[in-house]
Amino acid sequence: MKFIALQTVNKQYTLGQTKIHALKDITLSFDKGEFTAVWGPSGSGKTTLLNLIGTIDDPSSGTILMNGKNTAEMTDNQKSDYRNNQIGFIFQNFNLIPVLSALENVMLALQIRNVRPMVARKKALQRLEEVGLTHLINNRPDKMSGGQRQRVAIARALVTDPDVVIADEPTANLDLATAISIIEIMQERSKKENTTFLFSTHDQRLLDRMNRLIKLEDGYLN
Ligand SMILES: Nc1ncnc2c1ncn2[C@@H]1O[C@H](COP(=O)(O)OP(=O)(O)OP(=O)(O)O)[C@@H](O)[C@H]1O
Ligand SMILES: [Mg+2]
Repeated sequence: MKFIALQTVNKQYTLGQTKIHALKDITLSFDKGEFTAVWGPSGSGKTTLLNLIGTIDDPSSGTILMNGKNTAEMTDNQKSDYRNNQIGFIFQNFNLIPVLSALENVMLALQIRNVRPMVARKKALQRLEEVGLTHLINNRPDKMSGGQRQRVAIARALVTDPDVVIADEPTANLDLATAISIIEIMQERSKKENTTFLFSTHDQRLLDRMNRLIKLEDGYLN
């Protein structure tokens, strides 16, 4: 059984009178621990695909199986449990909380899951060390560079020990060297913990660093 499987998945958005066919007959699967980049130009369907796999949105047709379970048969509660317990999200704009320090931002991911502060602190410190930020744990996001913020966001996504990390353009606002270092941190983690990574990019300069590449063009797998 595949860890994640999409079968003939379509996604249509309705905007007034117009229908936008964002994903067209996508059949794909991922094994546990796979490190995959979704690549394609702007508007090709990358975010749509990641949102469907992250159960943030539902397909218009076709099925998505997570560990063999059809997401269409999950209740909203089951979906949010799945998102909270098994998926880590990383976003292009980091989405850190500005008034909290790096450490507090990472701890918060555990505290909202009712982990005790002492335990949350210990785990958060560990993850921040793994991304090389021990010296900056007390800084707020506005006192950090883009690459450092994204490393906080990675630590936050990983602190709950998710099976899957979904990262939508995590390197979009970063220079090439910083982008490569972010990808290397994710790759290392994927190898070490067998975490499945799925991330999107439209940056062609990063493509030769990928273990597996999925190309989208105008909603089609290419
Ligand atoms: N909520 C929505 N409502 C209507 N149309 C949408 C919506 N979200 C995306 N689309 C359309 O679906 C298509 C795919 O969009 P998507 O955001 O998945 O592309 P993308 O590859 O992530 O692009 P980018 O690189 O710019 O982030 C586009 O034509 C977009 O305009
Ligand atoms: Mg996008």
